[in-house]
Amino acid sequence: MAFSSVKSALLVALLATTGEAAACPSKSAVAPLFEYEKVQLTDQTIAKLGRTQSALFGFGHNTTNTTHSGSCKVFPGDHQWPSHASWSALSHALDGALIENVPLAASCYKSWPQYDSEKCKEITEQWTDSHIHAADPASVMWPLFEGRSCLPTTNSSSSCSLGGYSVYSVNVSNVEQIQLAVNFARNSNIRLAIKNTGHDFNGKSSGAGALGIWTHNLKNIEYFEHYSGSDYQGPAVKLGAGVQAAEVYEHAQKLGYTAVGGEGKTVGVAGGYVLGGGHSPMSSLYGLAADQVLALEVVLSNGRFVTVTKTNHPDLFWALRGGGGGTFGIVTSIISRVYPKIGTTVSTFNFSTGKNVSTETFWAGVRSYLSHFPAHADAGTYAYFWVMSTGEDAYTFLMNPFFAVNHTLSEFNTLVKPWYKELHSLGIKIQPNSTYYDNFYDAWNSGFPLETVASSTMMTGSRLFPRSNWEDAELLNRTFNALRSTVTAGFPLLAFNMKAELQKGLTPNSANPAFRQTLMHAISSTSWTETTSNTDIKAKMDHFTNDILGQWRAVSPDAGAYMSESDIQEPHFQQAFYGSNYQRLYQLKQKYDPGMLFYAPTGVGSEEWVVRSLDGLPDQNGRLCRR
Ligand SMILES: Cc1cc2nc3c(=O)[nH]c(=O)nc-3n(C[C@H](O)[C@H](O)[C@H](O)COP(=O)(O)OP(=O)(O)OC[C@H]3O[C@@H](n4cnc5c(N)ncnc54)[C@H](O)[C@@H]3O)c2cc1C
Ligand SMILES: *[C@@H]1O[C@H](CO)[C@@H](O)[C@H](O)[C@H]1NC(C)=O
Ligand SMILES: *[C@@H]1O[C@H](CO)[C@@H](O)[C@H](O)[C@H]1NC(C)=O
Ligand SMILES: *[C@@H]1O[C@H](CO)[C@@H](O)[C@H](O)[C@H]1NC(C)=O
Ligand SMILES: *[C@@H]1O[C@H](CO)[C@@H](O)[C@H](O)[C@H]1NC(C)=O
Ligand SMILES: *[C@@H]1O[C@H](CO)[C@@H](O)[C@H](O)[C@H]1NC(C)=O
Ligand SMILES: *[C@@H]1O[C@H](CO)[C@@H](O)[C@H](O)[C@H]1NC(C)=O
Ligand SMILES: *[C@@H]1O[C@H](CO)[C@@H](O)[C@H](O)[C@H]1NC(C)=O
Ligand SMILES: *[C@@H]1O[C@H](CO)[C@@H](O)[C@H](O)[C@H]1NC(C)=O
Ligand SMILES: *[C@@H]1O[C@H](CO)[C@@H](O)[C@H](O)[C@H]1NC(C)=O
Repeated sequence: MAFSSVKSALLVALLATTGEAAACPSKSAVAPLFEYEKVQLTDQTIAKLGRTQSALFGFGHNTTNTTHSGSCKVFPGDHQWPSHASWSALSHALDGALIENVPLAASCYKSWPQYDSEKCKEITEQWTDSHIHAADPASVMWPLFEGRSCLPTTNSSSSCSLGGYSVYSVNVSNVEQIQLAVNFARNSNIRLAIKNTGHDFNGKSSGAGALGIWTHNLKNIEYFEHYSGSDYQGPAVKLGAGVQAAEVYEHAQKLGYTAVGGEGKTVGVAGGYVLGGGHSPMSSLYGLAADQVLALEVVLSNGRFVTVTKTNHPDLFWALRGGGGGTFGIVTSIISRVYPKIGTTVSTFNFSTGKNVSTETFWAGVRSYLSHFPAHADAGTYAYFWVMSTGEDAYTFLMNPFFAVNHTLSEFNTLVKPWYKELHSLGIKIQPNSTYYDNFYDAWNSGFPLETVASSTMMTGSRLFPRSNWEDAELLNRTFNALRSTVTAGFPLLAFNMKAELQKGLTPNSANPAFRQTLMHAISSTSWTETTSNTDIKAKMDHFTNDILGQWRAVSPDAGAYMSESDIQEPHFQQAFYGSNYQRLYQLKQKYDPGMLFYAPTGVGSEEWVVRSLDGLPDQNGRLCRR
């Protein structure tokens, strides 16, 4: 019998004898809990268990930091690794939700019982589609940082191992299951990994030897036209942790509201996205996704389930909204403020070097665009553009797209007219394809097609360039020169012209302060081939991190970078990803999770731990140990 049923039976008994509601496990929530959040693990349930079971599933006490240098999380094969009986007890308690993970591409390998060449073909064809990774309990979209332990292949004799994927995953359908898994992992001193969709650029949702918590199937969405919180009355939406961007946008479209989510279709809105800050096509107007959050339901490292709001655990309310996924707790739902329906013009165009456009003219066109960043962001727009080298002295600029929120076609044309005029006088011809949509959904759907994922021959890095770089003509020149030098050296520039200021009246949070200053979130990447050796990959990564992105840091020394779309090797990541918030975040990490149950690479406190990866690359394929 699953614990939830034990608990329900117990509750019924208690209510029958006392007639009181005091035994109800749910707290006074600011909005009703989802049904799946009402199924909770309680002290009464634990009290009913025998000694062995309560040692496995009991709640944590306020732990102190007892780990010592060099000590590691218990790993498969260690004698302390939970026994078969313990895993069976967990599986039983979870009512069958425990999954023994198999690498997604195992069907390509003869050494796995899942070997099946037809299935392998299918997986290989779909490998770059985010949906198959999101729908898998352990697969992530950046296999490089898992450890590339089982890639699709046509050589069925090559090797495939579980590598950095979690050993087991809990296919979560209620809060009690999360609490049981958290208590089990903590009490057994094994690694825990939280996976929602697996989008994280640094593979933060994987971990060798880990028990995984997979939140993907928590799909509830509820709209409140008149939400009433301690300091906000208005429309809001409650999202289960597994809701993806396209799902909330479809819901919003039907009910006529606008939600602040990412541009990526399959990103998990209430998971790593919102917890890391979350930039949105709406950000220049409304700020970060984390700024919109009014309440969160969370399982803490001691296994307790709490409601977090401005008035309930205010320190966690600050830390969870921007301080990083997989760090302070496992979120089961969030409530976020939403906005009325709004119209948007979406525009795409491009220009390249060619007959009439010399290299110098091309760059003058890009330079001219840069000078309009403050005006465009201040008008509330968000633009995604790419600048790439396409051959010997050949370059292309793609506006992909310009997302002009709250702009009709004619308002958009007025906004961009000064820039277009400059392009015209440079002799650069453009043919913008601009369309007005009277709602966010249609605009987003046309502007942001599904992106490809799961490359294992590239890594990224990024920078949040501050407005001050635009306020000093000489510094703006140096900024432009750094970007030009990057692209000229063969590294692409994929950037967002946007801003993300905290709106008036909203409660401050721990999102990277660099976001508040930024006018451009710029991303670049380095790549290699499938046959490049690990040593050469590491050399390429280091060159990219230090020399290429070093030029970006040199022109913006006090700025930072967005943790969720970043370089896993970012030097002094504490300053870059968290800025002046780091010290307070670190203190809260010590308060809420001193034993580091929730480890994430580049997460708060992660500098005290190391993954002993097997291939010398910064991936999750190895033991997690205290430095
Ligand atoms: C194609 C693509 C498009 C993207 N577009 C955008 C964009 O428009 N804007 C933007 O800001 N970012 C964007 N991102 C980055 C994205 O926000 C991050 O990858 C984010 O971490 C994804 O969160 P997730 O929950 O979907 O992913 P996961 O990889 O599953 O999780 C990310 C991190 O959060 C933790 N986590 C997940 N769920 C929970 C939970 N319920 N409770 C606690 N911790 C949790 C995980 O442990 C991990 O550390 C994009 C990424 C990709 C690959
Ligand atoms: C544990 O710590 C929290 C937060 O500091 C505190 O509120 C709580 O009372 C403590 N519980 C125990 C049992 O000491
Ligand atoms: C925990 O202990 C280790 C080793 O003694 C020490 O290096 C580290 O700073 C401590 N961390 C916390 C969060 O207290
Ligand atoms: C397939 O992999 C095996 C094992 O790594 C290797 O010995 C063999 O040469 C590979 N075959 C091809 C065709 O690459
Ligand atoms: C996970 O659980 C859901 C029910 O919540 C079920 O529909 C789904 O098939 C399960 N997925 C796997 C991979 O077990
Ligand atoms: C560039 O714009 C032209 C004209 O609108 C269009 O035909 C072409 O497909 C675009 N190229 C790219 C790479 O988007
Ligand atoms: C290049 O410029 C010449 C002279 O202005 C013009 O006639 C021609 O159409 C231009 N070609 C392109 C491809 O723009
Ligand atoms: C949209 O733009 C109009 C001016 O055209 C402005 O009055 C309004 O406040 C803007 N809406 C939002 C939500 O910013
Ligand atoms: C312009 O954009 C719309 C919307 O994305 C698209 O349907 C249409 O085909 C595009 N037209 C041209 C000429 O590229
Ligand atoms: C910036 O660069 C342009 C073009 O190279 C140059 O004309 C201008 O003088 C520079 N401005 C400053 C302040 O350095």
